[in-house]
Amino acid sequence: MKSSIMQGARILATGSAVPNLCINNHQISQIVNTSNEWIVTRTGIKERRILNGINKSVVDLASTASLNALKKIAMDPLEIDLIILATSSPNDLFGSASQLQAKIGANNAVAFDLTAACSGFVLSIVTATQFLQTGCYKNILIVGADVLSKWVDWSDRSTCILFGDGAGAAIVQRCSQQDNGILGFQLNTDGKQFDQLSIAYEEDIASKEKLNIFKGRFNNIIMNGKEIYKFAVSKVPISILKCLNSLQIDTKDVNWLLLHQANERILNAVANRLSVDSNKLISNLSKYGNTSAASIPLALDEALTNNQIKKGDIIVIAGFGAGLTWGTVVIKWKC
Ligand code: UT7
Repeated sequence: MKSSIMQGARILATGSAVPNLCINNHQISQIVNTSNEWIVTRTGIKERRILNGINKSVVDLASTASLNALKKIAMDPLEIDLIILATSSPNDLFGSASQLQAKIGANNAVAFDLTAACSGFVLSIVTATQFLQTGCYKNILIVGADVLSKWVDWSDRSTCILFGDGAGAAIVQRCSQQDNGILGFQLNTDGKQFDQLSIAYEEDIASKEKLNIFKGRFNNIIMNGKEIYKFAVSKVPISILKCLNSLQIDTKDVNWLLLHQANERILNAVANRLSVDSNKLISNLSKYGNTSAASIPLALDEALTNNQIKKGDIIVIAGFGAGLTWGTVVIKWKC
C-alpha cells in the first residue's frame, strides 16, 4: 500500500449530536401525500430528527458534537488551532464557525465555514489535512452540521421526507508519517449542474428601488431527485476507484464503506458497482434521514461507539451532493 501523503494526520476522536424531536414517516404522511411504505421502500428512511425550540440553531448541535469529541480524549478546547464548520444552513451568512468557537471556548482557534453541502465533511477532512501536513497547525476540529429542516418546503413530498438535522465532529491531529491515518483523497465539482439541487437566492421584483437596488431572499430546497440519484450512482464509484487506485489499495482490502447517507438504494448500488459486500456498508439513515454535511461524521461516530470499526481498518468515505460536488477520502483507523 502506498500513501500519497508525506506528513501525518489522523482522527483522534469523534462526537455527534441530534435534536430530541423525532418525526417518523407516519407523522410526515399527515402533512403530505405519502406513506411509510413509499418512504421506506424508496429511501430506507424511517424517521428523522428535527431541530425545534426558540433560538436553537446549527451552532447548538455543532457545539454539543464538538464537546462530545473533546471529552472523549480529555482535550482542552484551548488546544484547538483551527475550526472548520461544514454547513449549508448557517444561522449567519457571514459564517457560524466563529459562534461555535466562542460557544465551546476554543479561544485560540481561528474558525471558518466551509460550504459544500453533503460533501462538506469530506472537503473538511481534506482541508484540515493540508494545514496539518504543512505543519501550520497541530489540532483541528472539523464539524459537519446542518439543519436543512429550516430550508425544506414542508408541502413538497419529494424533498421533505428526506432530510433531517444533526451534527458530527472530529478532532484531527498532526502526527508522524508512520502514524498517518488520512491516506489519500479524490475530489470533483461540476458547476454546470448546480441547479439540480439548490437553495437559490432569488431577487424580489417588488423591492426594486429607484437606485436599481435589488433585494431578495433564499428559496426552499429544490431537487431533481432522479438526476441526483443517477449522478451519485455513476460518479461516486468512479471517484472511489480513482482514489483507491492511486493508493494501490484493492477494493477487497476495504473494511468499511461510509457514504453520504442519502438513500439506502444509493448506498447499495455504489457497493454493488464496486463489488464490495453490502455488510461493509455503514448505514444509519433509517434513523436520521439525510443530514447533509452531518451524515458522514454522525455515522462515523456511531460506528466507533458501536465498536464496528477496529484499529487498522481501511475506511472509504465518500460524499456527494449539491454543487454538484463529490469526492472520496481513504482513512486507515489508527486509534
Ligand atoms: O444529499 C443530496 C443527495 N440527494 C439525493 O441523493 C437524492 C437522490 N434521489 C433520490 O433519493 C430519489 O430520486 C428520491 C427518493 C428523491 C425519489 O425516488 P424515485 O424512486 O426517484 O422516485 P421518483 O422521483 O421517480 O417518483 C416516482 C413517483 C412519482 O409519481 P408518478 O409520477 O410515478 O405518478 C412521484 O410523484 O413517486 C411519486 N413520489 C412520491 N410518492 C409518495 C415522489 N415523492 C413521493 C412521496 N410519497 N414522498
